[in-house]
Amino acid sequence: MNDARQHDDANERGSAQNHGASVGLTADKITIRGGIPLVGRIEVKGAKNLVTKAMVAALLGETPSVLKDVPNISDVRIVRGLLEVHGVKVTEGDEPGTLVLDPVDVESAHFAAIDAHAGSSRIPILFCGPLLHRLGEAFIPDLGGCRIGDRPIDFHLEVLRKFGAVVEKQPNGIRMSAPNGLKGAKLELPYPSVGATEQVLLTAVRAEGLTELKGAAIEPEIMDLINILQKMGAIITVDTDRVIRIEGVARLVGYNHRALFDRNEAASWAAAALATDGDIFVGGARQAEMITFLNVFRKVGGAFDICDDGIRFYHPGGDLKPVIIETGVHPGFMTDWQQPLVIALTKAHGTSIVHETVYEQRFGFVDALVEMGATIQIHKECLGGHTCRFGQRNFNHSAVITGPTKLRGADIIVPDLRGGFSHLIAALSAEGTSTVSNVGIISRGYENFIGKLRLLGADFDLEG
Ligand code: EPZ
Repeated sequence: MNDARQHDDANERGSAQNHGASVGLTADKITIRGGIPLVGRIEVKGAKNLVTKAMVAALLGETPSVLKDVPNISDVRIVRGLLEVHGVKVTEGDEPGTLVLDPVDVESAHFAAIDAHAGSSRIPILFCGPLLHRLGEAFIPDLGGCRIGDRPIDFHLEVLRKFGAVVEKQPNGIRMSAPNGLKGAKLELPYPSVGATEQVLLTAVRAEGLTELKGAAIEPEIMDLINILQKMGAIITVDTDRVIRIEGVARLVGYNHRALFDRNEAASWAAAALATDGDIFVGGARQAEMITFLNVFRKVGGAFDICDDGIRFYHPGGDLKPVIIETGVHPGFMTDWQQPLVIALTKAHGTSIVHETVYEQRFGFVDALVEMGATIQIHKECLGGHTCRFGQRNFNHSAVITGPTKLRGADIIVPDLRGGFSHLIAALSAEGTSTVSNVGIISRGYENFIGKLRLLGADFDLEG
């Protein structure tokens, strides 16, 4: 293993521990004795992929915003730190899990302070529009995020330029200004990127005139962000066929909003119930935003009960069945759901295929599963049906999973957020004992996962 990789891994472990420590998780390693079905009730709060953007949206208001159901995860801590270095006062509200965000004294921040807080997040790119409106300038450091693909920001820079922003690449990041203000524009995304759609929404709402965005992302988190912006005073029309129109307004005020639940976390615990022959009630989960997941969960052999206050996910007994999954944009099967569900597919009787069409390198987590005894082959071809953007481009983006196989305990290092949760499930469903390191990364998107494992009867010890 070369020095750079060792250095990267050392950095990764350091930041994993920082992620954990920022939400009270001091341990870096967990030792799991597998084979015990997870049974019980847990609650999921607001979605990481909405809450972090809603916090940025508060910058656009001239009065304070109130955001409810905010999970205690490290990505929220990172955005809070970035808002505070820009002069936003962030306090806890009366109800637990509530943040009050007061942007009245927003100010420029020194790039070093931004860099220090940005850490391994991609969120800073979304500060651009609001800061250009409030301050006429913005700075973003080199971005991080999970190593699941190249993750360029070309769509973001392209749309910001079209609004009239001046983009200057600098050694330590990108500086932006808007000497003539920001004006509405006709835009079309080459791919329905969630981040780039959020970029357009957060910029167009206060830009002069009309913005028309074609090829937009329409994920539930995007819709909830639109709910928030409309509460602030924005005028946004969501048309059919991925077209969103925004009429810019001069002023926006603070919002009061309860965040959409985290369907990625809910799907992850559902996958854990299936792979451990368990029975988990996920409080706060809703059917409407999970229809595609529920269909696949049922096809694999899982069962669920829809209730007013959540969804019960369980293994009804019998053999699990193979499936073909192609990840895609909403309302397709989310890319963030495939890694946790792969563990159940290793137990299915037959051959499953996962064709990952959103990120070109999202199978890094598979090596450890093969070490544990799974039969998984990775391919460069588009398997499972449709040709995607990564076809013929030398990316390992299809997995063939042959089951049933029995997983046995092993020593695992968490590679990224969803891969990490997948490794937890693997260790929980394996025969024998596993150690899972770098677990701090998991606290980037899973609130109190250790406490929830205890509630569900898992057998483990924390170390480090
Ligand atoms: C958001 O990432 C989520 N992250 C991701 O969840 C999620 O997987 C993804 O949307 C897709 O649903 C957050 O919301 C913080 P994209 P984002 O822009 O916005 C390419 C998790 O585990 N692209 O929709 O970064 C890009 O490389 C995370 O919770 C460009 O080429 O995703 C990717 O292949 C992981 N140029 C594809 O589009 C651009 O400028 C989708 O990216 C922007 C994106």
